[in-house]
Amino acid sequence: MTVNSHYALVFLLLLISGAVSAKPLYQQQLEAATISDKTLQEARKQIKEHKEIKLRAKIAVGPFHKRDEQKIQVKQALCTGCHLALPHRKNKRNRSFMNMHSRYIACETCHFRPKDIQLEYHWLAYDGVEAGTMLAPRSVTTVIPGDKSATRKGQQKKMPLAPLVGARIAPFLNGEAVLLFKDSDFAQQTARDWKEADNEQRASIKARLHSPLKEQGPACKACHSKKNPLLDLKALGATTKQLNALQRNTVVRFFERYKKDDERIRIGNILK
Ligand code: HEC
Ligand code: HEC
Ligand code: HEC
Repeated sequence: MTVNSHYALVFLLLLISGAVSAKPLYQQQLEAATISDKTLQEARKQIKEHKEIKLRAKIAVGPFHKRDEQKIQVKQALCTGCHLALPHRKNKRNRSFMNMHSRYIACETCHFRPKDIQLEYHWLAYDGVEAGTMLAPRSVTTVIPGDKSATRKGQQKKMPLAPLVGARIAPFLNGEAVLLFKDSDFAQQTARDWKEADNEQRASIKARLHSPLKEQGPACKACHSKKNPLLDLKALGATTKQLNALQRNTVVRFFERYKKDDERIRIGNILK
């Protein structure tokens, strides 16, 4: 091969890979999806019943339970254009836990798990100047300035895994985040379409957007377990101690005991 044709080949490869990586995997999949009549039918029903969620400003109870809706961050995933930042409402048993997790785990980590594609999981910045970029895990040697207890006992203060406020564990492929942000052309177009759409059009938008998604997230054990965990928590910055605590989590074991949806959870059982 001549030097020139070699360069031409490299250029061509760059062009191809550039064109492929320009669209996140989730977008590629939803655009390629074929929507069945059944799915569309379900979406129609959902749209009919769908209520835009309005938070009540004035409520009768005291301020203790009043929480302001989380501030909308600069760069957000597409999902929060329609879903609240704390999106889980239906399952009374686990919703507060799932909502807690959505503060540090991207929706797509749990809801976008395409078959036959091995995704990688990294920290992704959602906010600030670094928004949209992959972040290195928190350094295990991070010491909080002035914290004597940490050095005295040779222990670290219990820190969240997130290396940056607002960072989330998100799915990547070949180093690129596979999810769509609200500021992408596709997301902005979708938001405009959604606003102007009638119910029939909304059903079709809903069906397409959710076609690559799973209705249910993974079980607690998918992440909180030593066996085949979905996430490599060590690579995400967990110390050995944190790793053990997360893999043998009391709350998770407590949840695993409830098999049927209508079983009431009893806090007293947590100590068993
Ligand atoms: C354009 C609006 C819109 C966007 C954007 C959107 N959703 Fe939804 N989603 C809906 C509607 C409408 C429903 C039907 C249930 C309801 O009324 O809340 C729904 C339902 C769901 C459900 C329940 C299962 C199902 O398919 O009905 C899941 C899970 C879900 N969305 C996750 C996501 C995730 C994850 C994202 C981001 C990748 C996302 N949604 C983006 C509007 C949206
Ligand atoms: C840690 C995993 C996890 C994350 C992160 C997560 N979900 Fe879920 N999600 C679940 C599970 C598990 C269920 C099924 C709950 C059930 O019915 O038991 C669910 C169900 C849902 C449902 C349908 C049930 C309901 O309560 O309305 C919607 C809508 C939804 N998720 C949206 C989202 C959105 C939007 C995000 C991101 C802001 C998100 N989820 C992040 C695990 C997760
Ligand atoms: C997609 C992976 C994933 C799933 C699914 C998941 N978790 Fe977690 N969970 C995590 C990660 C990662 C953390 C650690 C966050 C941190 O420390 O910053 C965590 C933290 C927790 C914590 C806090 C631990 C502590 O000591 O601070 C509890 C409790 C917990 N999860 C319970 C649950 C329960 C109950 C379920 C199922 C209903 C569940 N998790 C499902 C990934 C997951």
